[in-house]
Amino acid sequence: MKIAIIGGGPAGLYASILLAKQKPKAEITVYERNRADDTFGFGVVFSDATLDNFEKYDPQSYRRITQEFAYWDDIAVHFRGTVHRVGGNGFCGCSRRNLLLILQERARELGVNLRFETEIDDESRLIDADLVILADGINSRFRERYIDHFEPEVDIRSNYFAWMGSTRPLDAFTFIFQETEWGPFIAHAYQYEAGRSTWIFETDPETFENAGLKGLNERQSADRMAEIFGWFLGGHQLLTNRSMWRNFPMIRSKRWVKNNMVLLGDAKATAHFSIGSGTKLAMEDAIALAEAMERAPTIAAALQLYEQGRREEVEKTQHAADVSLVWFEHVDRFWDFDPVQFAFGVMTRSKAITYDNLKLRAPDFVAEVDKAFAKQVRAKGFEIDVARPLAPMFQPMRLREMQIANRAVVSPMCMYSAKEGVPTDFHLVHYGSRAIGGAGLIFTEMTCVGRDARITPGCAGLWNDEQEATWKRIVDFVHANSAAKFALQLGHAGRKGATKLMWDGMDRPLEEGGWDVISASPIPYFPDSQVPREMDRAAMDQVRAAFVAATERGERCGFDMLELHCAHGYLLASFISPLTNKRSDQYGGSLTNRLRFPLEVFEATRAAWPKHKPMSVRISATDWAEGGITGDDAVLVARAFAEAGVDLVDVSTGQTVRDGQPVYGRMFQTPFSDQVRNEARVATMCVGNITTSDQVNTILAAGRADLVALGRPHLVDSAFTLKAAAWYGAEGVFCPPQYLPGKEQIFRNSVRDRQDLEELKIKAKPKTRAELKGEATKPLAAE
Ligand SMILES: Cc1cc2nc3c(=O)[nH]c(=O)nc-3n(C[C@H](O)[C@H](O)[C@H](O)COP(=O)(O)OP(=O)(O)OC[C@H]3O[C@@H](n4cnc5c(N)ncnc54)[C@H](O)[C@@H]3O)c2cc1C
Ligand SMILES: Cc1cc2nc3c(=O)[nH]c(=O)nc-3n(C[C@H](O)[C@H](O)[C@H](O)COP(=O)(O)O)c2cc1C
Repeated sequence: MKIAIIGGGPAGLYASILLAKQKPKAEITVYERNRADDTFGFGVVFSDATLDNFEKYDPQSYRRITQEFAYWDDIAVHFRGTVHRVGGNGFCGCSRRNLLLILQERARELGVNLRFETEIDDESRLIDADLVILADGINSRFRERYIDHFEPEVDIRSNYFAWMGSTRPLDAFTFIFQETEWGPFIAHAYQYEAGRSTWIFETDPETFENAGLKGLNERQSADRMAEIFGWFLGGHQLLTNRSMWRNFPMIRSKRWVKNNMVLLGDAKATAHFSIGSGTKLAMEDAIALAEAMERAPTIAAALQLYEQGRREEVEKTQHAADVSLVWFEHVDRFWDFDPVQFAFGVMTRSKAITYDNLKLRAPDFVAEVDKAFAKQVRAKGFEIDVARPLAPMFQPMRLREMQIANRAVVSPMCMYSAKEGVPTDFHLVHYGSRAIGGAGLIFTEMTCVGRDARITPGCAGLWNDEQEATWKRIVDFVHANSAAKFALQLGHAGRKGATKLMWDGMDRPLEEGGWDVISASPIPYFPDSQVPREMDRAAMDQVRAAFVAATERGERCGFDMLELHCAHGYLLASFISPLTNKRSDQYGGSLTNRLRFPLEVFEATRAAWPKHKPMSVRISATDWAEGGITGDDAVLVARAFAEAGVDLVDVSTGQTVRDGQPVYGRMFQTPFSDQVRNEARVATMCVGNITTSDQVNTILAAGRADLVALGRPHLVDSAFTLKAAAWYGAEGVFCPPQYLPGKEQIFRNSVRDRQDLEELKIKAKPKTRAELKGEATKPLAAE
């Protein structure tokens, strides 16, 4: 078998090693355009888990690589004169040059033919190869040549970065966030061998421009960085090696295989340097390819297996890298945060590290985070314990005169169980038990302002006296038997009205018994849905009056808070999104025009709702669709509502159009809450695939939302908050006297269960290489 590998970087060399071991008779050639020791860059970084993988697949190169390694456990965050260190991370660094020299040596030993200073222009030279591995890096010529086949998507990110080196010893993966007269600069730095560290500098385009970096050469820009970070470098130099400022290209390729050619490493996909994964991904690609070659009967089958088996893992890493790079691009959002909260945000930015996880390995750090959070709450006038504070989830909050005992919220959820809009016993039990379950705030389902405003025949409403009396009974029960505050969500279905109950076909038009529907524009939801009537001014007046009447009824019922539903493609949302609003009058066109009617309804309901009671608005912060609302628009929408007097923005997403493409995942809507909260400077509630109290605390502590709503988890666990309170020892959580023995038991058991679990986790956690080497905090001195 003949294998040709284009590119002698980590991907190409490691693939040659693994394949040579597996197929000793194969003729393997690596073509590299540079000289053998011509390598650029400084250090590379691997996690302990990646090294375990290398040990398994080629112990020989693993041993040589790790002899050269620098190990560290801590991440250090420097921000505004403070430094926060978090241990237990288990990283290793090594020089990129040494890594490549070791891989070259190992490849040679195994009989691989290394052809340096050999540039491959097209694959016709490799016509006799059975397998051609395209490991030609980020600017892959071959990926570009077959662009129509591989269909790469290249997203050039806005921030500028440059790789440099230094002689400054470091004992931690170090992030430095530095304010300058031009704007913020960030350094990502780590040691990779004695007396050598990698420094990646990053800044936004405006700061880059202001600092005059565009006009400086490599040396001059290194000097500028040395000026900025001189206080930390302590006289150590900054070294350059092709240290040009660039924008990071996030690359994803639709296909990785073409006939007998396969993309590997940066050529196929990149991951942002802030999670240190470029070299790791490249070498793990080589492992995946070698495994596929071992298992599959033919090369063609092996390449398919490689692509199918590897894609998910690569996409997961890319997603984590994406989330991380976006955090760095928007670091200015957090610039006025308390430093410890800022550091917590850095640590938890890509979702892999959470509040509970940090509490286990850096309890003092989390205690400080809790204290900083508690101080902010105390500054709002709450008499709470700051010395031994409760976890963020159990800190109270105030909106106007409404006080909420904790930050867990039952999200609005249609129960489709009303009769002619009148809630039933199901609703009494449903809301009653969730209120008793301990959440600080519970929301009604979307309660419709008129018969024709309903989504389905089972939707609850508040347009007549019977409905008002029934809701009042539920509100009274909640107030009499729980500490929960109760918010009424009012809405109008718009073009998604006259549809079936969820379990009969969500959003599907009713076959009989329907009613006429209205919307901003006459666009049906499904092609076979009813075509809505475009609202004229008279219809707008009617709808506004219906919202006001329902608001007045809501006040008589005794609700504590009112939410206007302007999300998920319903009537008010249909005005906001350009995908559903094609009007040419003053209610269509610009965002200001599209917001005009929703704001008008908001202002009218705000005027009808008592001044001391808060109001929120639920928005879809993105339509997940081309040409629709984006996170940046959501900031403008939130600002407009805040100016009109909204107290909280409830940040949801999507459901605007049928062909939206949401990117689901844990806490997938939280980044939008983060953006709205920290750019529009308005209190937010986030929601969406948040399932644990650990996630709730992570979001709150990082300042990504003020309240956290859970929908589906509350459907199966009405006592979610009570259980979490027991876990975190929040004794003050409300429990009705009837249930106190249960509360005492779970609180008693939780202390023990928590201790047992923590001990188990600590025991199960293997020692990091840094701990094993006793180098956990020791900087490597220059030899
Ligand atoms: C300048 C620079 C500095 C970097 N520094 C660091 C660092 O310090 N730490 C870190 O972790 N990561 C660093 N990276 C990123 C990291 O190198 C990559 O994520 C990782 O090397 C990807 O491995 P790869 O084998 O896929 O690609 P590469 O390492 O880019 O290897 C591709 C190889 O293919 C060769 N090649 C390309 N086209 C041809 C051709 N037509 N014919 C023959 N040969 C060809 C190139 O010369 C190159 O050696 C750096 C990247 C660059 C560009
Ligand atoms: C059965 C069901 C009904 C829902 N009804 C409403 C509703 O009436 N109003 C609303 O704003 N959102 C509604 N939603 C959306 C939820 O409030 C929440 O935003 C969504 O389920 C995501 O959160 P989760 O992952 O915690 O479930 C509903 C969700 C479900 C599952």
